[in-house]
Amino acid sequence: MVKIYYSKTKEEAGLKAAKSVAATIDAKPTALLGLATGSSPIPMYTELAKMYNEGKLSFKDCVSVNLDEYVGLSPDHDQSYAYFMNDNLFSKIDIDIAKTNLPSGIAPDPVAECERYNALLNTLGPQDVQILGIGHNGHIGFNEPSDRFPQKTELVYLTESTVKANARFFASEKDVPTSALSMGIGQILRAKKIILLANGEAKAEILDKALFGDVTPRVPASILQFADCVEVYADEEALSVIIAKHGENAVIR
Ligand code: F6R
Repeated sequence: MVKIYYSKTKEEAGLKAAKSVAATIDAKPTALLGLATGSSPIPMYTELAKMYNEGKLSFKDCVSVNLDEYVGLSPDHDQSYAYFMNDNLFSKIDIDIAKTNLPSGIAPDPVAECERYNALLNTLGPQDVQILGIGHNGHIGFNEPSDRFPQKTELVYLTESTVKANARFFASEKDVPTSALSMGIGQILRAKKIILLANGEAKAEILDKALFGDVTPRVPASILQFADCVEVYADEEALSVIIAKHGENAVIR
């Protein structure tokens, strides 16, 4: 079941999402957190760091797994997802860095690295909460539109639109990696709770398509319609198409 929570701003959406993550950790201090990078979760990470600083939340017994990493970028590259996680969350909270996990972008054999990550995910068990953003083309993780829903972590090739969307973070478009290792849709779906974050007008059409359109691997996020427990935290702009097409009752205020 998908519950869509309306917020006026991305900061408000981030706060509501952080409260949901905190509830998971309160109930289970050893929670397995599935984490995402990108601009969407930043306000939520800011709120989580604030809760930690105020002594309201501890991550010391949590374990984390991230969705994805670019192939070719080492953790000290400032656009790698490992760097992003340290910068935006891990360095600001008390999580044990040894308990944080991402696929390695510099493993000599990316396919073997996927196998290592798949075995790790199996050992750790289902995520207690999985954070997601959504790409303009409906991708979750780096599961791009295709004719199938990948089950496990795979080496994936980024679509032209994703490379273009991510170019804003690099000196030029040619510096954007064209492949990544991404957790599979099957591994995302087994999470006990999924939190999807979306901000801004640019996400309004795809959010409607994903949550109200046909369930198809052409829109990978549409599979969330079949998940048991999905919470969407989005700002007014990202919800504009949903509210216009499906009315006020489509969202929870
Ligand atoms: C990031 C990830 C991607 C992003 C998506 C949205 O780990 O897996 O699916 O969530 O590309 O990115 P933003 O939030 O930057 O719009």
